[in-house]
Amino acid sequence: MWNRVEQTARRVFATYGFGEIRLPIFEQSDLFARTVGEDTDIISKEMFSFYDPTFSKEEAVRVALALPLENRNETDIAKVFEEHRSWASIALRPEATASVARAYIEHGFQSKPGLARLYYIGPMFRRERPQKGRFRQFYQVGAEVMGQSDNPAIDAEVIEMLLEFISQSGLKEWKLDVNSIGCSECRPAYVERLRGELQKVKDQLGLDSQRRIETNPLRVLDSKVEEEQAIIEKLPSILSHLCGGCREHFAEVRKELSSRGIEYRLNSRLVRGLDYYMRTTFEITASGLGSQDAICGGGRYDGLIEILGGPPTKGIGFALGTDRLIMALEAPHSAGQAARAEGKADRLDAYVIWMGEKAKSAARTLTRKLRQGGAQVELQYDEKKLKKGLDLASKSGARFAVIIGDEEIEKKEFVLRDLDAGEQESLPEDEVVKKVSGK
Ligand code: HAM
Repeated sequence: MWNRVEQTARRVFATYGFGEIRLPIFEQSDLFARTVGEDTDIISKEMFSFYDPTFSKEEAVRVALALPLENRNETDIAKVFEEHRSWASIALRPEATASVARAYIEHGFQSKPGLARLYYIGPMFRRERPQKGRFRQFYQVGAEVMGQSDNPAIDAEVIEMLLEFISQSGLKEWKLDVNSIGCSECRPAYVERLRGELQKVKDQLGLDSQRRIETNPLRVLDSKVEEEQAIIEKLPSILSHLCGGCREHFAEVRKELSSRGIEYRLNSRLVRGLDYYMRTTFEITASGLGSQDAICGGGRYDGLIEILGGPPTKGIGFALGTDRLIMALEAPHSAGQAARAEGKADRLDAYVIWMGEKAKSAARTLTRKLRQGGAQVELQYDEKKLKKGLDLASKSGARFAVIIGDEEIEKKEFVLRDLDAGEQESLPEDEVVKKVSGK
């Protein structure tokens, strides 16, 4: 399942002109703090960050040597050392968009023609309370488009590619929510208005939401607390506070989605938990996963690259939680289960049985040819009685058994047994290869 999902991603993304970027597993903690945001749960509570002891040692020596002789005392060294310490803090990546942005600047993507279309597949780390569908090491398949254009057709195409990927992975049912969270022009005024409204109902909210009124009122909107729902429904919507530019952009995104036949739910409460987002945000949920039902999240982040010291650049992307997609595919009645029941999931094509020294060598040659033709084949290593060999072949779940004994060597034809139908025929080697590899 993991291989199938990842191969599907690679295949589908390639058809949209995306190339793979291989990112490091850890980065300087500061990279995530500056982009995802100090006040977000991911950075304030969930990041696995620690000091790199080798860096600190080198730094200590460098700092000490740079100080004038009279300042080479313990107190002065300690003071300068503390200032440099933040550079020695590294973190297991909690997400990868920041890393892609860092790489974009570091490798001069801005001077390359066209947009950078990049995807990544790999583990991410967050110190969350583990539960069903929520892990401390989990996997993402993500994609980002960065460059000079923020054409709404890019937003829609990224969403289309994502849907193509999940549907080709075999997921039948999902929901797509879409929203626009405005930009630095219009959002601050909305946030203030929201804060004001939230103050009025503060005593009806839980402690988490009360705290967020100060730190990040937008996050109150995606509270899952049952008792708060009726209150949140009545709060003002970001969609009626967008500035002209954002309103126009979002209207175009929606048109582009409709012209592609993409169905979605407009959800003005979809704010996402990372600070770098602006304008288009989206999320995909799947049924049968319980409370952790978001299999994918994404959005636009124009300006992220500037925060890291790069040139003004637009960007949009998503990351899909592979663990959760696979859980959804493995749920009862899902496509993954159906494929498994029909025996289509990674089925062995052939099991090769041989008896006698001459057959042994012919079996090895045939097996190699079958594998070169792309078939999945298991070769019997030790000589066994025919009955035992057939028994192992049927236990292996293979579609065909190939039987080679002295008689077959003499005739230059092998027995090909269809294990589902229980029928067999005698065929020359090249015919066996064609039939088993389905060519
Ligand atoms: P995110 O919403 O934090 O976005 O994560 C994306 C997806 O990763 C989630 O929808 C979920 O499926 C999965 N996920 C997150 N945390 C866990 C966990 N602890 N256990 C299992 N799965 C998890 C981002 O990471 C952004 N970088 C997405 C993005 C890319 N936006 C623009 N470009």
